Amino acid sequence: MKLFDVYPVNDITITKAQGSYVWDDQGQQYLDLYGGHAVISIGHTHPHYLQRLTDQLGKVGFYSNSIHIPLQQQLAEKLGKLSGREDYQLFLVNSGAEANENALKLASFYNGRKKVIAFRKSFHGRTSLAVAATDNPKIVAPVNETDNVIFLPWEDQQALEAAFQQHEISSVIIEGIQGVGGINVASAPFLQKIRSLCDAHNAVFIADSVQCGYGRSGKFFSHDHAGVQADIYTMAKGMGNGFPVGGIIIAPKFKPVYGMLGTTFGGNHLACAAALAVLEVIEKENLIANAEKVGNYLMEELRKIPQVKEVRGVGLMIGIELPEALAHIRKELLFTHKIFTGEAKPNVIRLLPSLVLQKDQADHFLTAFKQALAN
Ligand SMILES: Cc1ncc(COP(=O)(O)O)c(C=O)c1O
Repeated sequence: MKLFDVYPVNDITITKAQGSYVWDDQGQQYLDLYGGHAVISIGHTHPHYLQRLTDQLGKVGFYSNSIHIPLQQQLAEKLGKLSGREDYQLFLVNSGAEANENALKLASFYNGRKKVIAFRKSFHGRTSLAVAATDNPKIVAPVNETDNVIFLPWEDQQALEAAFQQHEISSVIIEGIQGVGGINVASAPFLQKIRSLCDAHNAVFIADSVQCGYGRSGKFFSHDHAGVQADIYTMAKGMGNGFPVGGIIIAPKFKPVYGMLGTTFGGNHLACAAALAVLEVIEKENLIANAEKVGNYLMEELRKIPQVKEVRGVGLMIGIELPEALAHIRKELLFTHKIFTGEAKPNVIRLLPSLVLQKDQADHFLTAFKQALAN
């Protein structure tokens, strides 16, 4: 059997990983500023993570949500504490798309409405309503097409007000920092406007924190920089440091009903152990503060480089916009300088390293980047 060939891959096979580094099958070391797409939050093969997962696997790896799983409550408590949302409720799933799908669904159950506001260049996942709320017609199949999603221009408060006047809005879904869209940071006034319109119209504010959340921005949720509280936060990627786990945290005003949401794998023992290990390391090693410190340093230095058109981002979620003629630099960083970075088309380099990134590793990247630009 062949693989269903949907991924354009680099000709590299990774066989070992530790902290901010990975090694290929030839023993070549790479600096990882991509984290497998913002997934590696506490560094590869962190010893505490290994220990917790190994211990759990030796006890019980999986059982369904038909029995008590105390690890879920432990995770909810830790997450409530670290995110400052102790009064919220946790529902566990397996991926970012599934988190958004459940958030949109819960919003609609809550207010009985159908219309969703999403924004230009958004990415919310590839399943039915998540992909319908994603601004990329190429990945929306005919069966996913719906007139329930209204796309508005980014940062356009007037368009937002008009949409609330014209439609009965169920929810507004927004990434605090657009990832796939090219690292676009939502301003505090825009997020505050969404909050006030949702309040006025009993609509649900969904903060897609799948990529920008979990400490990457220097606060637990990037939306926290604006001082607003969303009604539902969606999470995945960094939550399990590579173990597939996602979740939504839900404001107290939403009341659960048996059977309203559900999943076979979500919240299983191993997933909870992975997610707990991640939060324990984030707390113990002060990784949110590190993301802010190293991220600010990187952005400050990148802004001094004359060939760079614009540097956008917060903490360790950074977009470097290059002129079109320099779009090849990312490949050069990978194949000549052995540094993994992400991309946003057409010519934005995305830095999504683990939150353990150190200043000397940031310096290593800056030197290599300047060298690549000089060639
Ligand atoms: C902001 C955002 N939301 C949702 C998703 C979907 O997550 P997953 O691929 O885990 O379904 C992604 C993935 O890139 C994302 O960046």
